Amino acid sequence: EWSDEAVVYVNGVRRVLPDGLAHLTLLQYLRDIGLRGTKLGCGEGGCGACTVMVSCYDLTTKKSLHFAINACLAPLYSVEGMHIITVEGIGDRQRGLHPVQECLAKAHGSQCGFCTPGFVMSMYALLRSSKEPPTEEQIEDCLAGNLCRCTGYRPIIDAFRVFAKTDNLVYTNSSSQNTDGQAICPSTGKPCSCQNEADANVNSSLPSSVERYSPCSYNEIDGNSYDDKELIFPPELQLR
Ligand code: FES
Ligand code: FES
Repeated sequence: EWSDEAVVYVNGVRRVLPDGLAHLTLLQYLRDIGLRGTKLGCGEGGCGACTVMVSCYDLTTKKSLHFAINACLAPLYSVEGMHIITVEGIGDRQRGLHPVQECLAKAHGSQCGFCTPGFVMSMYALLRSSKEPPTEEQIEDCLAGNLCRCTGYRPIIDAFRVFAKTDNLVYTNSSSQNTDGQAICPSTGKPCSCQNEADANVNSSLPSSVERYSPCSYNEIDGNSYDDKELIFPPELQLR
């Protein structure tokens, strides 16, 4: 039955939006209801600290679609009928971290942490909306709207590399070579000699960045499969 209530789901929980909140952005609403993992950085779409994932239902394809959006730019009522997933909705230390969160932590991709929820949600949205593992280029592109003042980005990119198609990995260890036997630069993916110089300068037994951590999955945390924990698209919203 058709209802004139303005309904959203936030992290799997149904919420009716009261009238009179047209002055609020989605970010203000989320923080007002206690979900303060989503940060206010610039407030104008430039930094990605406020990134959340919204899902809506496509009646033509009968599939849910997932997008990362800047919550600071979205008027609250613009997400009516959608499912909003914030960083609190995908994992925490009690329930177990989501693999996206865990690999970022293990690869030291978070320092002050202010940008971290935004990076996590951009990567999460890419994974939810990809039918197959993304390429490294797609991963870098999906993070283009996220700024980090601390890490220099390299640990973040390295962390998320574990989600890339394995046949697309530019390098797998510090002695990567192309078919001509030439070393591949871990930064640019192009042939160069920087790795040889780096190896000569640093302890050459140091593992490469992709080997410094090994992400574990939900299976290892509590025996449940990863898919069992993923928030589904609320059936009610398919009818609206
Ligand atoms: Fe910077 Fe939203 S707070 S993009
Ligand atoms: Fe501090 Fe990214 S970890 S801004």
